Amino acid sequence: MEAKIRQETTEDRSAVYEINSIAFGQENEAKLVDLLRKSDAFIPALSFVAILDHKIVGHILFTKIKIIDNDHKEFDSLALAPMAVRPECQQKGIGGQLIKTGLDKARELKYKSVIVLGHEHYYPKFGFVPADKWRIKAPFDVPKNVFMGLELLTDGLKGVSGTVKYPKEFERKQRTANRVFIKSELMCNRAEKVQSHSVGYKIIAL
Ligand SMILES: CC(C)(COP(=O)(O)OP(=O)(O)OC[C@H]1O[C@@H](n2cnc3c(N)ncnc32)[C@H](O)[C@@H]1OP(=O)(O)O)[C@@H](O)C(=O)NCCC(=O)NCCS
Repeated sequence: MEAKIRQETTEDRSAVYEINSIAFGQENEAKLVDLLRKSDAFIPALSFVAILDHKIVGHILFTKIKIIDNDHKEFDSLALAPMAVRPECQQKGIGGQLIKTGLDKARELKYKSVIVLGHEHYYPKFGFVPADKWRIKAPFDVPKNVFMGLELLTDGLKGVSGTVKYPKEFERKQRTANRVFIKSELMCNRAEKVQSHSVGYKIIAL
C-alpha cells in the first residue's frame, strides 16, 4: 500500500501525538516526541508523517545523537526513534516507506549514520547491522543484536566507536520502591512486546 510521506508540519502535531499514543498503547512516546521537538536534537526535516486517504496514519522521527569514545572524542549520528503506524494500517509497508524516506533525506542532509534499537529481523531489511560491528554500544544493557547501526554513506562509521549519548529527553526517571527505572521509548522489557505486530521492543533498564 503506497502512502504519501512528507515532512511533519505544526498542524500535524496532534495527529502525531494520537498515532504514537495508539500505536504504543501509552502516551510516553507521544510525550517524548513533543519534548524532542523543543530540544536541540530536533531536525524538522527529519520528522515525517505518512498519509493514506488524506489521513495521517504514521510518523517517524530521527534526532541528533553523539557517539563518545574512550578518549571522549565525539561523533555525530542520528537516532531513529520513535516510529509509529496506526494499528489498522500496520503490516502494509508504511513503516518501511517512512524508514526509507527518512534515510534518504538524512543522507541528503549529509548525516553519515543512523542508530536504532529495535527488532533484529526488521531493521536489517533496511541495511542496519548490529552496532558492535563498530564497537558502538548503547548507554544501557541491551541484547547486542537489537542495537543496530547503518552507514548512510561508504565508511560513514569508519573510525567511529564508543557509547551512544541520547538526548536527555529520552530519559524518564521513575522511582518505584527501591528501584530506579529509566524508562523511555527506547528502554522497555524485551519480554514484553508492545503488541503482536509491533516490531519494536520495550526494554526496561534497571
Ligand atoms: C513498528 C511499526 C511502526 C511498523 O510499521 P508497519 O507499517 O507495520 O511496518 P511495515 O509494514 O513496513 O513492516 C512490518 C511488517 O510487515 C511486513 N510487510 C511490509 N509490507 C507488507 C505488505 N505490503 N503486505 C504485507 N506485509 C508487509 C514487513 O515485512 C514486516 O514484516 P516483519 O514483521 O516480519 O518484519 C508499527 O508496527 C508500530 O507502530 N508499532 C508500535 C510502535 C512501535 O513498536 N514502534 C517501534 C519502536 S522502535
